[in-house]
Amino acid sequence: MTRSLENRRILLVIGGGIAAYKSLDLIRRLRERGAQVRPLLTRGAQEFVTPLAAAALAGARAHTDLFDRADEAEIGHIKLARDADAIVVAPATASLMARMATGEASDLAATVLLATTLPILIAPAMNVRMWQHPATRRNLATLLGDGVRVVGPNDGAMAEAEFGPGRLAEPNEIAAALEAMLAGGERPGGFGFLAGRAPAGALAGRRVLVTSGPTHEPIDPVRYLANRSSGRQGHAIAAAAAAAGADVTLVSGPVSIPDPAGVRMIHVETARAMLVAVEEALPADIAVFTAAVGDWRPAEVGQNKIKKDGSEPAPLRLVENPDILATVAGRSSGRPTLVVGFAAETDDVLANALKKIARKGCDLLVANDVSASGGVMGGLENTVHLVSRDGSVETWPTLDKDEVGRRLVARFAALLPV
Ligand code: C5P
Repeated sequence: MTRSLENRRILLVIGGGIAAYKSLDLIRRLRERGAQVRPLLTRGAQEFVTPLAAAALAGARAHTDLFDRADEAEIGHIKLARDADAIVVAPATASLMARMATGEASDLAATVLLATTLPILIAPAMNVRMWQHPATRRNLATLLGDGVRVVGPNDGAMAEAEFGPGRLAEPNEIAAALEAMLAGGERPGGFGFLAGRAPAGALAGRRVLVTSGPTHEPIDPVRYLANRSSGRQGHAIAAAAAAAGADVTLVSGPVSIPDPAGVRMIHVETARAMLVAVEEALPADIAVFTAAVGDWRPAEVGQNKIKKDGSEPAPLRLVENPDILATVAGRSSGRPTLVVGFAAETDDVLANALKKIARKGCDLLVANDVSASGGVMGGLENTVHLVSRDGSVETWPTLDKDEVGRRLVARFAALLPV
C-alpha cells in the first residue's frame, strides 16, 4: 500500500444511510494511506454507526452537533471547515446532497460544507429511485457546477431488494478518487463557468447516451482484434453531460481509464454487445457515438486457442459488424432528438466527414484527424471539426479532450429544442 495520502488532513462527513457502516472501513483505508481523518457524523449517521466507533478508528474525536458547547469553544464549525486539505462526504445521502445544493446550514455537516472553500468529494448512496429522481439529478448538477467531485454510486443490489445505481462506491474507490482530486490541486470548476461549459443544469431532465472506447472482437479465447482508442474523449463527453445535469448512460468498450462519476456505466467488449446495450439504454434525447467500433469481426471464433502447427497460418476471415450509429440514426420511432457521430479519419478529413454524415444519417459529425502524427488516438488532446448536415464546418483549436467534451456538451444543449 503506497502512503499516497501521507499527512493529508481529511474531514470525513458521514451521512445517515445504511451505507454509513462502510464509512468505518473508509476511515481505515484512508489512514492506511497515511491520511489523518477527522470524522463528523450527522444525526442520521448516528442511527447507523456510533461516534465512538468512528473516533476509535480515526484516532481522533468525532464531531456531531452544531451547538456542542465544547466543540464551539475548542474548534468551532468555521475551523472544521478550514482545518483540513479536503472534505469527503460518504455516504452522501439524498438529503445531504439537497442541503448542500441549496446551501442550507441546518446542522453541523451542512454548515461546515457551506462554510468551506476546501475541495469536496461526495460519494452518494441512496435508493435507486431517489438517485434517479429529477430533484436529485438537479442537485447533482448544481453540486458538479459548484466544483464538487463525485465518486459512484455503483450499480448493484440494494438493501431494499432493488437493483440499480445507488450503492456507495467501495472504500478503495473513494480513496482513489480522493487521491486524484488532491493530485489535481485546485478546486475543480470553481464557482464560475469555464469557457465553453454548459450552464449548470442545462441538461437537467435530459437523457444522454454516449458510446466510448474500442471494441474487442475475439479471434479465440486469448486473442482479439482491437484499435488504439483510449475512451478519453467519450468518457469526457459523458462526464461533461453529467456535469450539465443529464441522466447519462455510458456504454464503453474495454478501456484502462476510470468510469466517470455520476454516470450509469455499461461495460461491453464487442460491437454486437455494444449495439444491444445501446438499444436497451434508449430512449435518449441525445446520443453521442464516440466509440471506435471495430468495423469487422472474425467470421469464426476458435473455441480453443489456435495453435501454430508449422504449416501456413489459416487466413483470418472477417465479417462486418453492425453499424450502431447508423442503426440508431435510422430508427423510425424512438430516434434520439440529436444523434452525433464521430469520424476518425487519417486523410481527407473534411471531405470524408461530409460523405459520412449523409451515409450515417446523423445530425452532427465530429471529425478528427487520427493520423499517427496527430497522436489523437490514445492521446490527451484533440483537434475537431464540427460538421453539420447542411455542410457547414467549424474547426476548433487543439484542446484538451476534457475541454472538447465540455464544449461539445454546451453545443448539444444549445441545439436541443426547449
Ligand atoms: O464508419 P466509421 O467507423 O468511420 O464511423 C464512425 C462513427 O460511426 C463513429 O461515431 C462510431 O462510433 C460509429 N460507428 C458505430 N458502429 C460501427 C462503426 C462506427 O456506431 N460499427
